[in-house]
Amino acid sequence: MSNTNHDSTGVEQHHKSQRKHVTLFSNRFTFILAAAASAIGLGNLWRFPSLAAKYGGGAFLLVYLLLVVTFGFTLMVAEIAIGRRTGKSAIDAFRSFGQRYAAIGVLTALVPVIITPYYCVIGGWISKYLFTYLSGGGAATADGGGFFSGFIATSGEPLGWTALFVVLVMLVVGLGVEKGIEKLNGVVMPMLLLFTIGISIYALTIPGALDGLAYYIIPHLSDISIATVVAAMGQMFFSLSLAMGIMITYGSYTSRDTDIEKSVRQIEIADTALAFICGLMIIPAVFAFSGVEGARQAGPGLLFITLPQVFAQTGFATVLGAVFFFAVFFAALTSAISLAETVVSFAMDRFGLSRRKAALAVFVVILLLAIPPTLGFSDWGAATLTIGAAQMSILDVMDFISNSVLMPLVALLVCLFVGWWRGPDVVIDEVKATKSARFASEGLFKVMIRWVAPLFLLIILISSILNGLGVVSI
Ligand code: TRP
Repeated sequence: MSNTNHDSTGVEQHHKSQRKHVTLFSNRFTFILAAAASAIGLGNLWRFPSLAAKYGGGAFLLVYLLLVVTFGFTLMVAEIAIGRRTGKSAIDAFRSFGQRYAAIGVLTALVPVIITPYYCVIGGWISKYLFTYLSGGGAATADGGGFFSGFIATSGEPLGWTALFVVLVMLVVGLGVEKGIEKLNGVVMPMLLLFTIGISIYALTIPGALDGLAYYIIPHLSDISIATVVAAMGQMFFSLSLAMGIMITYGSYTSRDTDIEKSVRQIEIADTALAFICGLMIIPAVFAFSGVEGARQAGPGLLFITLPQVFAQTGFATVLGAVFFFAVFFAALTSAISLAETVVSFAMDRFGLSRRKAALAVFVVILLLAIPPTLGFSDWGAATLTIGAAQMSILDVMDFISNSVLMPLVALLVCLFVGWWRGPDVVIDEVKATKSARFASEGLFKVMIRWVAPLFLLIILISSILNGLGVVSI
């Protein structure tokens, strides 16, 4: 599709021609597919159901949905527009507006450095489950948690699986063959969708599951606390891949034929619908097996504990488990690849390294950083942090620092940058630069980016930090 500039704003678009090695997405569909593939991952499958179960089910769902259509929308539009306007990835994009904004880009680049290692730890767990089902031992995993906690409590084995996963990810990134892997996405993603829908329907027929369904979809307002909002907000950043520069990069690959507002709505719908279905697949079932306390005490292991029990009831657990964990493995792998890819491209830009050298350096860093969260469930299990009522493992702490502290901070800076330092027109003009775009939510965008989002983020940030320091418990 053509990349000529049809806009009426008079903003020149010659930056595209300066990026010789960058291919633009050919149309809106491929862009949405790529952005959705980045958004869809363990955030939907593993993180969302655990959090929703823990933070009051319907209450969490309601807060999450509200945040996605307001904050998520505003931030994603802003990031994509900044990327397209500058034609650069995060660090350089901010710097191109002036040296004093460069720090925002650097902070943004820090987020995937923290997320990628622990993402690979979960990727290792998924690999272990895939292997277990493939080798016919899947039945053992359906024992209500013993198998899972036994596995993560050993140190050597989880470490081995994590290392294997990291090696796989870095091989793909180092060789620069992500494109091939991403093509397979087109097959595996629809497969994943079909499975999650099928498993959800089955899970709802388990006796006792309907109470769980009620818990999941009916909000009880008394369950909404600051902790719920902080958790939902962190989940929104994580799941929509916001506040870490990736959407800026994707934006820089899109042409002005792409309607940003429409794309953002579609990415949000795809990501949120999948998260919702993943909740359906897991929450009613955890209720059926272990009641409301089981759901509220859910830790990061829900996916690994509840689903095997659902599979075991079907009578063809081995096949179902193998195929399902293959699809999850794939979703985790593609997300981990693009996460690592962001870190590698930052290393290339910043230190002027070749792809291979950058990949090697990033590989070592990620591998080392993946050790503490893995051992946090075994040898280093004593190293916990108590935040509020929750005891956090090392993995939880990394997750907390990235999602509840750094990402709100980056998001706040983006809001101040767009809303105040540069003015919302930086984004609005870019959205309207698409010939057919109306930017129906321009009013919402303006109010959100200047007032509501920064104030809200400030409150979240302060309460997160105070909470993290143990000053108050929420
Ligand atoms: N959104 C992804 C998920 O839900 C995780 C993620 C966050 C991600 N940032 C990313 C994936 C950047 C790829 C690139 O699992």
